[in-house]
Amino acid sequence: MTTVGIVVAAGRGERFGGEKHAALVGGVPLWRRAREVLMTGGVERVIVVGDVPGGVPGGDRRRDSVAAGLTALPTDAEWVLVHDAARPLATPHLVVRILQRLHVGDVDAVVPVVAVRDTIKRAEGPIVRETVPREGLVAVQTPQGFRLSALREAQAASDEDASDDAVLIERAGGRVATVPGEPANLKVTYPADLDLAAALLGVIDG
Ligand code: CTP
Ligand code: MG
Repeated sequence: MTTVGIVVAAGRGERFGGEKHAALVGGVPLWRRAREVLMTGGVERVIVVGDVPGGVPGGDRRRDSVAAGLTALPTDAEWVLVHDAARPLATPHLVVRILQRLHVGDVDAVVPVVAVRDTIKRAEGPIVRETVPREGLVAVQTPQGFRLSALREAQAASDEDASDDAVLIERAGGRVATVPGEPANLKVTYPADLDLAAALLGVIDG
């Protein structure tokens, strides 16, 4: 049961203000942490997409960078985990949890989720329009796990943009399962998130 991985580390980092993948948390670049956690969790081979040593060039949209990673992967692998370089705090426990669920073999994809804690409202600019019922709402993280053939087919089925990879499976009518995510597994989006990540790292490691 070969499981491979893709770390997406390209993109413009517009909200961050540049070169996000190379930013350091605890002295280690984000992309390197993302690769390490996959390997430690049991992924056999990891392709990094982005401007890093040994990396393959990324694409315009996140889904294009994932497609570039898929092209670079061995074709005989059965499973793939896709992880954002921008999430440096995922732990090997999470990777193992995703792999165990994936290897049951009854679903096309597995995503880590955390319950939404805040009240969610829809606003137009400065005005609240509605309060969205929170029941059943979850926030979705990476790594996300896939039957490799299902992800390839879902990528090929449509060119519509996608904010994560599992939505491609959903659109193609596939089954996506959840496993508990990790509250500390934040995505570095803005510069201040780096300080938050460094503080959380102290908690996780300590
Ligand atoms: N990513 C990628 N290729 C892209 C866009 C994003 O590989 N064309 C990767 C980023 O490196 C990141 C992850 O996808 O690890 C999540 O994307 P995001 O946090 O949105 O990063 P950016 O798109 O670079 O940032 P922004 O949207 O602020 O420009
Ligand atoms: Mg982006």
